[in-house]
Amino acid sequence: MNPKFQAPKGVSEYLPPRSNLFDYVSRTLTAPALAAGYELIELPIFEDTELFTRGVGESTDVVSKEMYTFEDRGGRSLTLRPEGTAGVMRAVIEHNLDRGQLPVKLYYRGPFFRAERPQAGRYRQFYQFGIEAIGVNDPYLDAEVIGIAYSGYRKLGLTNFSLHITSLGDAESRDRHRSDLIKFINSLNLDEETKARAAKNPLRLFDDKREEIRSKMQTAPLLLDYLNDESQDNFTAVQAALKSIGVPYEINPHMVRGLDYYTGTTFEFVHKGLGAQSGIGGGGRYDGLMETLGGQDLSGIGFGLGIDRVLLAMESEGCVPTNIRYVDLYVIPLGVPAQSSAFALVNELRHAGFVIEQSFGDRALKGAMKAADKSGARFAIVLGDAEIASGTVELKEMSTGKVSSVTLSTLASELAKRS
Ligand code: HAM
Repeated sequence: MNPKFQAPKGVSEYLPPRSNLFDYVSRTLTAPALAAGYELIELPIFEDTELFTRGVGESTDVVSKEMYTFEDRGGRSLTLRPEGTAGVMRAVIEHNLDRGQLPVKLYYRGPFFRAERPQAGRYRQFYQFGIEAIGVNDPYLDAEVIGIAYSGYRKLGLTNFSLHITSLGDAESRDRHRSDLIKFINSLNLDEETKARAAKNPLRLFDDKREEIRSKMQTAPLLLDYLNDESQDNFTAVQAALKSIGVPYEINPHMVRGLDYYTGTTFEFVHKGLGAQSGIGGGGRYDGLMETLGGQDLSGIGFGLGIDRVLLAMESEGCVPTNIRYVDLYVIPLGVPAQSSAFALVNELRHAGFVIEQSFGDRALKGAMKAADKSGARFAIVLGDAEIASGTVELKEMSTGKVSSVTLSTLASELAKRS
């Protein structure tokens, strides 16, 4: 017997009918970005490994433990993209998108890859919807970006989540905090590996999973207390802008994002019904990233929303719509001559804008009716020799079983009337 294959461990897959929900979630999250003028950027799934080591940062788990890296046939080191921002920056720099109107406003959707330990809501291949606004540093733009994510969640019916925000300030604020934080860390009794991690990026210790490190870090100096006037004013302006569009938030000075490029405003959306993997989206400003990757010194801000987790969040809140898949009419041809008339009729109705399914093969009427029912179609017709001869069909409303006689020539307008 041939081997039966299984999908690799920890990947998320979407099969009908849940795939319809996945598609609906992706489209709904995208709509507010389209309304704000963001345009699609479609990027390669793999990039030069160094783009991520330099862009995302070597101190991060994402780079140090979770990358799917391989050598191609030409001996180049490539990595399956663990996130979208570095790739967007690479493309913006490579194709000079930053030489025109600013900000450059882009969105992307697709699979991302991290070799994490799989569990509910944490996958090795997962899906993100993301946006990036590059080239302008303006608190209203920060609030626009955050507001787009918020509207997407609300359009999907989510309510049991909160938005955490903080500010990592400008370079001067971060430098002052960093030197005090390093002093604090040096006063702790830490193992060599943790010390090495802290040397690369001391903020990482706030993010440590171990309870003993977490409790030691409780009294560590917080960046939010080190913001200079300019950074504080900026953060205050972002909050005022969020208030003006009705986006509720909580300030969380302990928040540390898992990627090294962040500066200024950073944020995370946390869902309360998801257990450990509660982050349904996050992002922030990244002032030095573009320059680090060889481009101009331009600021940017963006987010990545985890589509898989948003879907789980909707299921946990019970706000999954039941009527996502929409079929107007199911056509059942009976007998060979009717098949060709039915095939042409289905084509015509689809061109007229209706969603039509038809039964194929030599199906008995009972089986075909069952399929019509399962398809979720609102109406069904049977097309046999008698119907073709009379030019009339019985239009059956599936939910009520009500039947009305309709001429084939008026079928489209009758469907439109009932929609
Ligand atoms: P991130 O916080 O690493 O940010 O990921 C964004 C979202 O992707 C998370 O909030 C989560 O919902 C989802 N996610 C991450 N890892 C997994 C996983 N293993 N399984 C399922 N879902 C996951 C970024 O990736 C940044 N590039 C966001 C950004 C854009 N910042 C600025 N611009």
